[in-house]
Amino acid sequence: MERFKNYINGQWVDAVSGKVFKNISPANQEDVIGEFAFSAQEDVNKAVEAAKAAFEQWRLVPAPKRGDLLRKAGDIFNRRKKELARVMTREMGKPTFETEGDVQEAIDTAYYAASETRRLFGHTVPSEMENKMNLSFRVPIGVVGIITAWNFPIAVPSWKILPAIAAGNTVVFKPSKDAPHSGVIFAEIMEEAGFPKGVFNVLLGTGSMGDMIVNHPDVKVVGFTGSTEIGCKIAEVCGRLNKRVSLEMGGKNAQIVMEDANLELALEGALWGAFGTTGQRCTATSRLIVHKDVYDKFLDMLKQRAEKLKIGDGLVAGTDMGPVIHMKSLENCERIVKIAITEGGRLVTGGKKCSQPELQKGCFFEPTIIADVDEKHTIFNEEVFGPVLCVAKADSFEHALFLQNHCEYGLSGSIYTKDVNRAWVAAREIQTGICYINAPTIGAEAHMPFGGVKGTGNGHREGGWTAFDIFTEWKTVYFDYSDKLQRAQIDNY
Ligand code: UN1
Repeated sequence: MERFKNYINGQWVDAVSGKVFKNISPANQEDVIGEFAFSAQEDVNKAVEAAKAAFEQWRLVPAPKRGDLLRKAGDIFNRRKKELARVMTREMGKPTFETEGDVQEAIDTAYYAASETRRLFGHTVPSEMENKMNLSFRVPIGVVGIITAWNFPIAVPSWKILPAIAAGNTVVFKPSKDAPHSGVIFAEIMEEAGFPKGVFNVLLGTGSMGDMIVNHPDVKVVGFTGSTEIGCKIAEVCGRLNKRVSLEMGGKNAQIVMEDANLELALEGALWGAFGTTGQRCTATSRLIVHKDVYDKFLDMLKQRAEKLKIGDGLVAGTDMGPVIHMKSLENCERIVKIAITEGGRLVTGGKKCSQPELQKGCFFEPTIIADVDEKHTIFNEEVFGPVLCVAKADSFEHALFLQNHCEYGLSGSIYTKDVNRAWVAAREIQTGICYINAPTIGAEAHMPFGGVKGTGNGHREGGWTAFDIFTEWKTVYFDYSDKLQRAQIDNY
């Protein structure tokens, strides 16, 4: 069986304890992907120490030179795209056309971050005194700890890692225990791109090791993607230790379909939003809000198409939807469906483990639609992270907005309508970090701010230029060339 190591200080090393953990494929639980280093405190210490030492040189490398290496990394991601996509599909399940898109997001992020190294704009500002100039520019912070989920095993880490490194920080990255192989390949690519030793380090292991990264005194910034429960715990620790933390957590995203919408388009959007990545995106559409005039018709259209989706191993061409990540997740889908029905929801289709004989080795759950729910239903409020869509009927535009915003999360929201005035009102009123007009709740682009409000985030945005706000501090410099003491606020007034 293949054995995968940590990448620390430019070396591939086993965990100090020699311990390993196994990872299996969700499409076939008999398929053991490999043994992975099971890191603990000593490994965290080594990686952070390496990153801390590397920071002293890396922060002084001219930013555009750092950008050259990032561009190289982008080229290598591109070269390895298909092969890497198959690794990702095998370990987390989504079809290869989706994992290829996942890698593409990292390529885009690499090139974007590289280009940003020639900007990283600061401000030059007139002074209130004579012969004095004021300026403010970005400086890197130090060692950044990055902890991510398995559902976008390359794209989401890239949103954090690449801008952090572009800005002159060094990184200790913990990939999810359910997608460690992708993390290993991330390191291979960074190694080949030629980043100096210690700039980028990967530690494989479980959540408790993530805790050790967060708690390590030399980790100055933490970037996390995962559940709201864990994110809030991380924020507590970072609050106590006065660390900067960027959180990207849960979602319960809704798509509104108004009576004047292009229903065919709204249908494509709903299917892609709800069942893409088997519903396991932070941005997945898990609530559909349909105007009463088109409710029955739209549900009918949806049921027919959902039942035609081809479920199976994501490595097989033609598969529309892969498995959920593990059996616990499948059981959670069963649980929520049961609750939804008990509370009065109507099962339109799906609702159980797939029964096809060829799918029995994997964690396959049917594309599921539960109709006639409202804001009081558990399924309308609880994040499921599976292919389970609930549908509510809206009496009016205002009611649709009320339902959309009746949510403790606020990542992504969508509306389908041809009424331009309503579209603008919706863009203003939908309480999410990302809002789509006539497009599904998924489909964020790498160069735009990504993140959410309410229970989803803590005010930070990854992606695009905003990622640099997470990974830099502002340094303000007053440059006085008057050759005399000038007392601000006093001598000039
Ligand atoms: C996530 O769900 O964690 O917008 C990330 C999208 C993707 C990224 C999703 N580009 O759905």
